[in-house]
Amino acid sequence: MNHLDVRTIGRQLLREPPLRAALEQLANGNLQDLSETLAEPLLAGQLCEPDDNGLRLTRLGRGIAYHLSELRIQLENGGADTYVSQLDIRHDSKVLDIGCGAGQSLVALSREQPRLGVGLEFDPVALALFAAIRDVEQLPGVDAVRGNAETLPFADSSFDRIICRSVLMHVRVLPTLAEIARVCADGGLVYLHLTDFWFYLRKLLRARWERGGVPFALVNGLLLQSFSRQIRMRATRTMSYQTVGSISRRLDGLGFDVIAVEQDRRQLMGPRHRQPKILARKRLLQNPADGETKA
Ligand SMILES: C[S@@+](CC[C@H](N)C(=O)[O-])C[C@H]1O[C@@H](n2cnc3c(N)ncnc32)[C@H](O)[C@@H]1O
Repeated sequence: MNHLDVRTIGRQLLREPPLRAALEQLANGNLQDLSETLAEPLLAGQLCEPDDNGLRLTRLGRGIAYHLSELRIQLENGGADTYVSQLDIRHDSKVLDIGCGAGQSLVALSREQPRLGVGLEFDPVALALFAAIRDVEQLPGVDAVRGNAETLPFADSSFDRIICRSVLMHVRVLPTLAEIARVCADGGLVYLHLTDFWFYLRKLLRARWERGGVPFALVNGLLLQSFSRQIRMRATRTMSYQTVGSISRRLDGLGFDVIAVEQDRRQLMGPRHRQPKILARKRLLQNPADGETKA
């Protein structure tokens, strides 16, 4: 069977809002026959597959649906979430979005600030979708590279605004934080969106997880907080929860001042639990000779 490449799929979906809406509904468990909505059978065949209840999204369909719904959320928020807005991005800022997905934060931000920066992403599907969004939205100022958050392919002090949103849960946290510190210029701002213990506990209680991922993430999170260790599931995959306290202490050790934290414990078991967010600034380098701060 022939396959459309993901960039082509992305362009088709983005140019036809009803199709995107259908995909989002399907991702939310609102099953409907997407193949009736999609004019292109090849496209429908790649995004959906039959199951006992009719149709379900393929792995590719799930990935695309996730990124497109995140993009919609960010665009509806009028330019990414509030903490991204607090990054005080200016026309000459050098922005890096680590684990950028399909570029949802960068795309939302670039509506106000056209020359933005670069996204780093591991997943080729997300990157192809990013390329499609750039084509459709005509955003030449945002770019993306394939790479690993744990070994960033950038020179020291290359960026002064760094976004890392919902990515620490997927990576080895300590090497990733060390890399963020390395590529962040002195005085630069970093925004981290964590994934906490309650995120996984909620999933466990609601039995919404496949293949034991939650217990693994909980044990790994405990190892991380207690012994600064994490286990890998596969060569490139790990999972953990993070706490504001442990990440803040680690940031302090790497030369950052935490300047704002958002943590809302009131809705732990409510319909929506907001994940903790940290905004930190890299300290300016002290000159040991005279104790002066280098500007
Ligand atoms: C939950 S999504 C968040 C996407 C985006 N940052 C957002 O806020 O919507 C996590 C993203 O991190 C990416 N990712 C996971 N491990 C990575 C790694 N080691 N290096 C770079 N990106 C990674 C995934 O492919 C995925 O796109």
